[in-house]
Amino acid sequence: MSVQLDENGQLRHFLTTEGLDPALLTRILDTAESFSGVIGKSVKKVPLLRGRTVINLFFESSTRTRTTFELAAKRLSADVLNVSVDTTTTKGESLLDMLRNLQAMQADMFVIRHSQSGAAEYFARHVDPGVAVLNAGDGWHAHPTQAMLDAYTIRQHKGDFEQLRIAIVGDIAHSRVARSQIHAFNGLGAGEIRVVAPNTLLPGDIDSLGVQVYNDLGAGLRDADVVIALRLQRERMQGALLPGEAEYFRHYGLSEARLRSAHPQAIVMHPGPINRGVEIDSSLADGPRSVILEQVTNGIAVRMAVMSLVLGLQPETAREST
Ligand code: NCD
Repeated sequence: MSVQLDENGQLRHFLTTEGLDPALLTRILDTAESFSGVIGKSVKKVPLLRGRTVINLFFESSTRTRTTFELAAKRLSADVLNVSVDTTTTKGESLLDMLRNLQAMQADMFVIRHSQSGAAEYFARHVDPGVAVLNAGDGWHAHPTQAMLDAYTIRQHKGDFEQLRIAIVGDIAHSRVARSQIHAFNGLGAGEIRVVAPNTLLPGDIDSLGVQVYNDLGAGLRDADVVIALRLQRERMQGALLPGEAEYFRHYGLSEARLRSAHPQAIVMHPGPINRGVEIDSSLADGPRSVILEQVTNGIAVRMAVMSLVLGLQPETAREST
């Protein structure tokens, strides 16, 4: 049985978008929508997590993900601790010992980012009953809240997923974001998911992921409704997978000119951090098609939704609160 669901199919932890049914994926998006009003208000808080403690435990660097998790927890009135762990100075303490110590401080929820795939699930298997674990990125494996905020942003602009052609461009092989997006978008019934990359940047199991593979950018972008750029994750690459950044941009870089083959109303997305001039041109990243900063804003509501759902708190409660 899945670690992240309870016996009634409700979220206990949020570790992956793989295998989640459409109703649950939609519930996350609908719950986020009910919170997005809160974010726009002058008083931005709801008391849903009052008295609860959330620990952000980041073993890898992060800007957007950590801060929006923190803001989400604060807007739900939780107490938040931010722990950045430099793995070179952990004094030999094991992950499990660290978990036990933090749990002794009566944490109700851990948000964990770690370079090892499976780290969040490991935590979820070892926490006390009633404590929730949210995956903020584990190795190459998954980044489920990023995928859901991307799905939320797409739904906001395009409505239903059924007719959509979504092109994910770039370093698919090393991207936990791409993997979680593919599972989430497939679960939400996307019309067509394309991955566009050189073969060296495609994962070995790509044929089992339910996507169309394109090596040619022009062909991959044709009539696409949503175009997602990914960063070249050099820190995860072993050996020379690429000829060079200029050469990469020539073949796979996104620009206004390249986007001409996409649908005229296509939106452009990027999970950040952006490398301007490597995977995306500045004029496109800052231009009218770009929804990149909206993705960041939506991250707060989506993370509020996931934090509430794993604790079994209902969206109705959020709406009733002020
Ligand atoms: C991504 C990550 O860390 O997986 N960034 C993010 O969370 N928004 C993608 C990346 O690092 O390129």
